[in-house]
Amino acid sequence: MSKAHILIGVGGGIAAYKVCSVIRHYTEAGHDVRVMPTRAALNFVGAATFEALSGNPVTTEVFDDVDEVAHVALGRQADLVIIAPATADLMARAVAGRADDLLTASLLTVSCPVLMVPAMHTEMWEHPATVDNVATLRRRGVTVMTPAVGRLTGADTGAGRMPEPSEIAALGDLLLQRSDALPYDLSGVRMVISAGGTREALDPVRYLGNHSSGKQGYALARAASQRGAHVTLVSGATSDPGDPASVEIVDVDSAVEMQREMSERARDADVVIMAAAVADFRPIAVADAKIKKGAEGPAPIHLDTNPDILAGLVRDRADGKIAPGTVIVGFAAETGDADGGVLDHGRAKLRRKGCDLLVVNAVGGGKAFGTEDNTGWLLSADGQETGLPFGSKTLMASRILDEVASLVPDGRVHPGTDRGGNTLTNPVPARDNTERNR
Ligand code: CTP
Repeated sequence: MSKAHILIGVGGGIAAYKVCSVIRHYTEAGHDVRVMPTRAALNFVGAATFEALSGNPVTTEVFDDVDEVAHVALGRQADLVIIAPATADLMARAVAGRADDLLTASLLTVSCPVLMVPAMHTEMWEHPATVDNVATLRRRGVTVMTPAVGRLTGADTGAGRMPEPSEIAALGDLLLQRSDALPYDLSGVRMVISAGGTREALDPVRYLGNHSSGKQGYALARAASQRGAHVTLVSGATSDPGDPASVEIVDVDSAVEMQREMSERARDADVVIMAAAVADFRPIAVADAKIKKGAEGPAPIHLDTNPDILAGLVRDRADGKIAPGTVIVGFAAETGDADGGVLDHGRAKLRRKGCDLLVVNAVGGGKAFGTEDNTGWLLSADGQETGLPFGSKTLMASRILDEVASLVPDGRVHPGTDRGGNTLTNPVPARDNTERNR
């Protein structure tokens, strides 16, 4: 990514301290960062901190440095605006087009993507005024992040907690990489996504596993929930890709467990995505006690074939156990061999699995597994083949979801929402992932 101008607006909320890590993320990536706190924000974090972290002067008023016409200059040159925390008051002022401080004045001059990260008490997030303001901002193309559920300022917990800085940065990076705004086009769509690798137990301490990091599946969950989807992430083992805010995470170990969770949850889903690396085989028996070395050398491991979860979901749909309009997406990790290239194997796999879309990745030689970037093709059952440009897994997730969104029938809209982002109530995340029992 080339050097970009990032404008970081800070509202007056206790979560202002967390934005320091976001500033760091962008300065360390080599971008030019300008911080614009509101007057209230400076009650929580001092201007000196923002100046030291950004390496640039900090002003809050339109009448500071008048000769530079800062609100016009900084607004016009920005490639990305992130406002965190976006308080209820700040969002209301943005909706009204007010210009009573440097930040709101600048917002009226920007033409780049804007990411607002709300943080407030649950009652304020759910108040009809905030609900309307969020819907208006989304209609205008602003990406308003759905807050996390968790500990709020006092002893209380609920929806309205500011998502972690890494989640904010991941979404900010996506907006920088996409040449267009992130659409809010999956509102009310229920999505079940599998991610990570399965672990097949040998004995109480050992398992057969794989190198999957879970990054691609987590990136899909993150992007889908920020497009309005209600996402459940069925997660195998990962290398800790960060819990997406406002996503329900269900931890599983083995392929059989993953199959149980996926087939159960797919019954109520509009979209099912199998991004997990499922082990094809599992030991026939799991030893009750740790297997000892023994005098005869290693004992052979006898394997059984695991269920093909993806093919099973397609069968369930054909049998009416899953609704006929449910979109089913698979992944194919291919190396290519003497029988054909990566794409040939992908085409054959799409036919074999019977899903609607197949994302084909080239793996091996350091590609895809555990890496930050990815590339591939999107093959659809109707014969369309689209190349996915090389980029971050977050960008790839976002491109996959563009295609998925076009396949979800319009009739699949759930109470309280419509596809245009006109949420009648602000979505409340399923649960507090900080309570996850890993
Ligand atoms: N998959 C699945 N259940 C399995 C194996 C794979 O649901 N037991 C899913 C994966 O989540 C992925 C797709 O099927 O969406 C393809 O996975 P992949 O490992 O590439 O294919 P396999 O079916 O295992 O075929 P092969 O290993 O022969 O290439």
